[in-house]
Amino acid sequence: MARIAIVGVGAIGGVVASLLQTAGRHELVLCVRRPLEQLVVQTPEQEIHIKATILTHPEEASSVDWVMVATKAYDVETTARWFDALCAKGAPVAVLQNGVEHRERFAPYQAKEKIVPVIVDCPAERRSSQEGVNHIVQRGPMSLRVPEGNLGREFVDLFAGTAADAAAVEDWTTVAWKKLCHNAVGALPALLLKPAGVLREEAIGAVALDMVRECIAVGRAEGAAFADSFAKEVLSACRRAAPDSINSLHADRIAGRPMEIDARNGAIVRKGHAHGIPTPTNAMAVALLEALTAK
Ligand SMILES: NC(=O)c1ccc[n+]([C@@H]2O[C@H](COP(=O)([O-])OP(=O)(O)OC[C@H]3O[C@@H](n4cnc5c(N)ncnc54)[C@H](OP(=O)(O)O)[C@@H]3O)[C@@H](O)[C@H]2O)c1
Repeated sequence: MARIAIVGVGAIGGVVASLLQTAGRHELVLCVRRPLEQLVVQTPEQEIHIKATILTHPEEASSVDWVMVATKAYDVETTARWFDALCAKGAPVAVLQNGVEHRERFAPYQAKEKIVPVIVDCPAERRSSQEGVNHIVQRGPMSLRVPEGNLGREFVDLFAGTAADAAAVEDWTTVAWKKLCHNAVGALPALLLKPAGVLREEAIGAVALDMVRECIAVGRAEGAAFADSFAKEVLSACRRAAPDSINSLHADRIAGRPMEIDARNGAIVRKGHAHGIPTPTNAMAVALLEALTAK
């Protein structure tokens, strides 16, 4: 049994809460920034009403055994305000976010060895909800990958007996960079304000391939392993997606919300720069999206 705090109960935090509740042995604390009375998760199998303590201010929090961060990658500073109280007795912090910089992002606020980076795969979204109620729709299974090690194994054990596909892996770096390759391409539909079908166009597909090849080159310099065919596999997967589907970057842009462009394409550019690897297509995507959305 563990007392587990989830900071941010949108799509991913909601699904994680429902999985941990089905484990039947944990105490859940939901840390939110707007008043929340009910969290309801529609999983592929059933509707789950979450039973948890809900806190809206970090001052109300007390120590837990584990903290799961499921905010967007740009909400670092306000997310970290929860850590002082939640981690008062040394709780580890699992960061369930996209990108490859989970530890760097939270290093100013938490000891690096206490941060567990998590690569999440799960099609889930928030339904527009009434005041005080969060409705989450989970459209497929959740996969969670953490680095092999004591904390990684402890994290995986929290999900034992649930529907989550949680595993600690030796080569987490490769898992993370492969996911980033898929995420990198998402900048194109977001720029063009066109759903995924636009990637089937020849010229756009060629740009997507360049973006992925840059990501692979930087990922290899960071220690990730890719087959030479991987770039084409990513493009094929993108082209198999429903042509009217909208990725999260695109959805955020349409809704006027901030985008995780810095954690995705920005990370490729930053790390490419550090290794002396040119990343012109990703740099252009970052510059254009930032300029388009600058206030
Ligand atoms: N959705 C997916 O299918 C999916 C799949 C794989 C990976 N991911 C990654 O998982 C991460 C989370 O994504 P998501 O889709 O779950 O995002 P989301 O639905 O926008 O949820 C983020 C939640 O964090 C809350 N939040 C922000 N700052 C907070 C703070 N200081 N204290 C408490 N709560 C705070 C937001 O509150 P408000 O309700 O007030 O906005 C929101 O409820 C991202 O890095 C994303 O890229 C998502």
